[in-house]
Amino acid sequence: MEDKPIDKQVILKELEELHKLDYEYADGRILGSMCTEAHPFAKEVYCKFLDTNLGDPGLFKGTKQIENEVIKSIGRFLSLDNAYGNIVTGGTEANLMAIRAARNHARKYKGITDGEIIIPESAHFSFKKAADMLNLKIVEAQLDENFKIDAESVRNSITEKTVAIVAIAGTTELGLIDPIEEISKIALEHNIYFHVDAAFGGFSIPFLKEIGYDLPVFDFSLEGVCSITVDPHKMGLAPIPAGGIIFRCEEYLEVMAVDSPYLTVKTQSTIVGTRLGASSAATYAIMKYFGKEGYSKIANDLMENTKFLARGLKELGYEIVCEPELNIVAFNHPEMQTNDLAEKLEGLGWKISVAKCPVAIRVVLMNHVKRNHLEELLKDLKDIF
Ligand SMILES: Cc1ncc(COP(=O)(O)O)c(C=O)c1O
Repeated sequence: MEDKPIDKQVILKELEELHKLDYEYADGRILGSMCTEAHPFAKEVYCKFLDTNLGDPGLFKGTKQIENEVIKSIGRFLSLDNAYGNIVTGGTEANLMAIRAARNHARKYKGITDGEIIIPESAHFSFKKAADMLNLKIVEAQLDENFKIDAESVRNSITEKTVAIVAIAGTTELGLIDPIEEISKIALEHNIYFHVDAAFGGFSIPFLKEIGYDLPVFDFSLEGVCSITVDPHKMGLAPIPAGGIIFRCEEYLEVMAVDSPYLTVKTQSTIVGTRLGASSAATYAIMKYFGKEGYSKIANDLMENTKFLARGLKELGYEIVCEPELNIVAFNHPEMQTNDLAEKLEGLGWKISVAKCPVAIRVVLMNHVKRNHLEELLKDLKDIF
């Protein structure tokens, strides 16, 4: 830090220069991100709530009410009338809270002190962080030939130490929905906590179903589901950071509560202490602004782009890893190594992401990727050969 104050204009200029190094969503070149530009209305609301702190909710009663309302509202589109939970920083923190709840619950009611969690091989790496922080062992369930969690493998992985089973509604690499109904039954049968990671799919699956898409059930209508991660800062179009953790019952928050002596509340269950109310307010606003109808339209538009890309790729001789269930297309070319293809695309200015399981170029059709960008991409993919 400098000794003397610096003029605001000088500071702003310096920051703008650095900001220019960032890629912009509006260019349509970012193809691998699960985030996108937030809606302007959500950003406007966000700025009005920048000073609110939900870590001390007695001081911000109105904003706390907003968070509660958002959680209830997300819960309702996930088939739960009375949801509990929090708006947190993202899918990672939401998953961490779910696994912490599961671990503490199993410790309290089953006396398990050295627990294990069963996650699919396709799980987001946030579960590795959670297991590391919570001192749990990860047991990976295998995937079936369709890259979805194999129910038999889950069943065979259960031991007396299992504290949670995880399945995914919208996998990070392929956007696939695991057979959650089947896993829910297994979890119920064995009385094991079941968490669904719908960080990506949560803001699209329910709305696609509303307009007739035939997608599997993944939500609280399944008795075994204890919690769901769903991220407003992905397809919800809320500004970063906004993740959501929704619990079926309050008990899962209670088992995480620690005393918070100097605050306006006696206990705190979240991982983060001081935390933004702006994320809750922006999510509240954007959910009201779009309603089910608006989100259905967004989700449908994304799926139309997904189908357009998949069709175009096939016409050019590319191979699709699987038929997309949500707005992700993963592909390869039979005559070129994936990494070589990725390198060529990077050279042409595309920001590419490569999936690991299986290895493939992975395009996430987020809102900033428009039809004209896809046409340019397909042209480049044609010209590469
Ligand atoms: C399925 C899934 N879960 C969790 C996460 C982590 O979310 P975040 O990056 O918001 O922490 C992601 C991120 O893409 C994801 O795809």
